Amino acid sequence: MEIRTVGIIGTGTMGLGIAQVCAQSGFNVIAVKATPGSWEKAKASLEGGLNKSVERGKMAAADRDALVGRITFTTDERAVADCDLIIESIIEDLQTKKDLFRRLEAICRPDTLLCTNTSTLSVTAMMAVCKHRSRVAGLHFFNPAPVMKLVEVIHAFETSEEVIETLDQFCKTISKGPVIVQDTTGFIVNRLLTPYMLNAIRMLERGTGTIESIDQAMKTGAAHPMGPFELADYIGLDVVEAMAHNIFEDVRHEHHAPPHTLTRLVQLGYLGRKTGKGFYDYAQKPPVQNPQLLRPVT
Ligand code: CAA
Repeated sequence: MEIRTVGIIGTGTMGLGIAQVCAQSGFNVIAVKATPGSWEKAKASLEGGLNKSVERGKMAAADRDALVGRITFTTDERAVADCDLIIESIIEDLQTKKDLFRRLEAICRPDTLLCTNTSTLSVTAMMAVCKHRSRVAGLHFFNPAPVMKLVEVIHAFETSEEVIETLDQFCKTISKGPVIVQDTTGFIVNRLLTPYMLNAIRMLERGTGTIESIDQAMKTGAAHPMGPFELADYIGLDVVEAMAHNIFEDVRHEHHAPPHTLTRLVQLGYLGRKTGKGFYDYAQKPPVQNPQLLRPVT
């Protein structure tokens, strides 16, 4: 199985990051904007990040141009028809993903590898709607995709060994360090990381420490690059809540249920960095603890 062209469905943070990583390693990429609207903003966002790398002397302008030149942006899903590998990175909603897999099967060759970048949904459930199931797997990248080395290669119920091997090799070709994981909710990283962030929130609710002291403790005491609240804000609180919900649905243990403070912040639209406020208020430089969280959340 030779991979030359990669299709990316979804041009949000993860889709764009994955497109960048693939193009940087010389693959041709078709990037499909999955939600209504044009793709120009997505392309400008990718170029903005690359321009910063050029300005800081991390990338040559010619390499940036070559990288961008290898990515074709489109809103037409059918443009991925000739891709060898497709990685979807659309909304974390199982029904929406299943519908996409059904459409991709109708568009693509029977041997095109169909992968999902889901964080906590069942890859096997997506595979189940396909006729050619052995080519369905998960390729789970981490944010920021151009920086984080890990890709979890998800072995779903009927994924063939040959497909897993091809994906493992592909990840190495794009300079990532793949780990093969069986299809269980949250895989390895999110199954460990989600309860960790939820426990930090419960610790805050109990008054064990402040947002800043808990973050500081984990950065300087456990050498984490970000504390649990910084990380939750970085991932997006809606995403963290959805991951908690999906793991809770699977294991039905209250330890995995989203804590009250998280639910309230998501209800209020305070989703972390992307909305300017979450556990921290990013309007302040440097960011300060969200003042609304200084009293108990009801
Ligand atoms: N795109 C490309 N490069 C980026 C980047 C981005 N979005 N963000 C940072 N970088 C690069 C910078 O250019 C810089 O590169 P150089 O060293 O070559 O100059 C390098 O990363 C370090 O960046 P900064 O100096 O700006 O900032 P930092 O040292 O504070 O690092 C960080 C930023 C890499 C995000 C770091 O804080 C970190 O590793 N945080 C933890 C991230 C993490 O845990 N991610 C996983 C989240 S879970 C997930 O993604 C799974 C899921 O399913 C939800």
